[in-house]
Amino acid sequence: MKEQTAYVTGADRGLGLGFTKALLERGFRVFAGEYGLDGAGLDTLAKTHGERLHRIALDVSCDRSVLRAADKLREHCEHLDLLINNAAILGDFTGSITDPLDFTLMQEVYNVNSLGPLRVAQSVFGHLTRGSLKKLVNISSEAGSMEQSRRTNRKLRYGYCMSKAALNVQTVILANHAHEHDIESYLFDPGWMRSFMHGTKNLKATQEPDDTAQTILATVLDRPHPGYLYMTHEGQRYDW
Ligand SMILES: NC(=O)c1ccc[n+]([C@@H]2O[C@H](COP(=O)([O-])OP(=O)(O)OC[C@H]3O[C@@H](n4cnc5c(N)ncnc54)[C@H](OP(=O)(O)O)[C@@H]3O)[C@@H](O)[C@H]2O)c1
Repeated sequence: MKEQTAYVTGADRGLGLGFTKALLERGFRVFAGEYGLDGAGLDTLAKTHGERLHRIALDVSCDRSVLRAADKLREHCEHLDLLINNAAILGDFTGSITDPLDFTLMQEVYNVNSLGPLRVAQSVFGHLTRGSLKKLVNISSEAGSMEQSRRTNRKLRYGYCMSKAALNVQTVILANHAHEHDIESYLFDPGWMRSFMHGTKNLKATQEPDDTAQTILATVLDRPHPGYLYMTHEGQRYDW
């Protein structure tokens, strides 16, 4: 059997680091997209799983960086079994329509959260078609759900919510194409995690990213595809 390979974006910390750790523990060769300068979490993993961990400099908002990362990946493997588009930023979480809105920052959020996953998927799509598992995972949010914004009477968070809604429709379009190549697609709301989206670890949140990564991977790797795209971290259907 061919060695299983995975590519995780935003692997420096939070959920991406959790995926990287869990996949290494499952025996995967992991290409970890590294964005920040503080790679302490990946340093620790390198000590125990060094030969199967490939750290690749990756800024998903930059065409050239994404292409360079894909070249690096291709140097080390001929197929990709699993792509996890995880990297994202929050931007300004506070402005309502009556506040000043930072449209430049919103464009940056869109570039990272919506265009980033598409750039990365395109850069390794050929490799994914040659994998044996053939799994494509996009990490969205409850913020991408129109129904959730309506139900909760949301009046803030334009940039982040719009970027995740765009990711959601992108995943539908991509999944249609991927399906023709027997690639199964998943779109997760990972839940509320003690990660670093606000700059420091959010201790108020209810889930540890490492546990969430394990739960998501159980749905993706251990069970048959549920037949719908948008789901909670536990694999239950989520409202669009
Ligand atoms: N935390 C939550 O409660 C929550 C809820 C719903 C959805 N999510 C989603 O879950 C995913 C993981 O987020 P998280 O909570 O683990 O957040 P996090 O701790 O902030 O991790 C995000 C990762 O993405 C990296 N990153 C940022 N900009 C990047 C870029 N341009 N290119 C490549 N990597 C970049 C970050 O690097 P640096 O650390 O160096 O900045 C970090 O490693 C995201 O898609 C997020 O939208 C999170």
